[in-house]
Amino acid sequence: MQPMFSYRHAFHAGNHADVLKHLTLVACLQYLAQKDVGLLVADTHAGTGIYRLDQELARTSGESERGIVRLAAAARQKGQPVPAAVQAYLNVVQSYNLGHDSLRHYPGSPWICQTLLRAQDQLKLFEVHPTDARLLERNVADLGRGKQIELRRSDGFTGLRALLPPPTRRALVLIDPSYELKTDYAAVLDCLEDALERFPTGCYAVWYPVIARPESHSLARKLKTLCARVQRPWALAQLDVGQTVASGRSAEVARGQARTPLHASAVHLINPPYAMAEQWRNALPWVCAALKEGPGAQWVVEQGP
Ligand SMILES: C[S@@+](CC[C@H](N)C(=O)[O-])C[C@H]1O[C@@H](n2cnc3c(N)ncnc32)[C@H](O)[C@@H]1O
Repeated sequence: MQPMFSYRHAFHAGNHADVLKHLTLVACLQYLAQKDVGLLVADTHAGTGIYRLDQELARTSGESERGIVRLAAAARQKGQPVPAAVQAYLNVVQSYNLGHDSLRHYPGSPWICQTLLRAQDQLKLFEVHPTDARLLERNVADLGRGKQIELRRSDGFTGLRALLPPPTRRALVLIDPSYELKTDYAAVLDCLEDALERFPTGCYAVWYPVIARPESHSLARKLKTLCARVQRPWALAQLDVGQTVASGRSAEVARGQARTPLHASAVHLINPPYAMAEQWRNALPWVCAALKEGPGAQWVVEQGP
């Protein structure tokens, strides 16, 4: 499948969807780090790793202002106890903004992972966008972590195959495509089906947009069906910030090709960390209140079997 290159995560970095996804990623990594055995972390759709919130791409969309910036401001308000999972996520973001009053940098998933990576862990990144892969390559080189972080400029869906099962039999896999291509929905399922066959006990995290499109509804349903078929536990969180009243220049959201702002997304976890659903139930009412845009704002947590 020929990749499309119009999606740039820099426009969306730190938006409400990143808040849900990255808060979850931090919780998963912290949970998995409780055991000493080395962890393979695979990020099949990496982006550039770290983003500037004070430069053109992010400022044009204004999405981080209504996401991470709002969340951080809510956490600073006195008298508001901040849920543990939110605080842990904010700590990671703040660690890239030390000495600054406002948020200038936003860590994408590879940077969140590398922040929490231990000496015995490995991080494998995939990115196909020519510009973003080049930026990611440079950013990774600047970290100076040598072979601990490896970037492959190839398709993450198929590239994951060669990594599973990992020698240590412990892995966290983030599957976070842009859904620019309709075929991404089916590719997520094919990729997971194969991965679960190779390595049924890995922890898998799939992000998807919740939009009025048959592929989105069907992915949500098929992920549950897949988990039931392979008899793996799952948990999902959905965050809807409600309809944006004034969307300004951010009205075009590339994700899912939607022409209206994306207001809801979900993360589906397979083999979720123990107590993840409870952590979401503690965190999401607070997050939802902080990021609410308008009517329809809500959160959902489900788990199975
Ligand atoms: C939503 S962004 C990733 C954001 C990142 N995971 C984060 O949370 O910071 C999706 C990325 O996947 C890249 N991409 C698209 N198709 C891909 C593929 N088949 N394999 C690897 N990367 C791909 C896009 O160029 C884009 O940078």
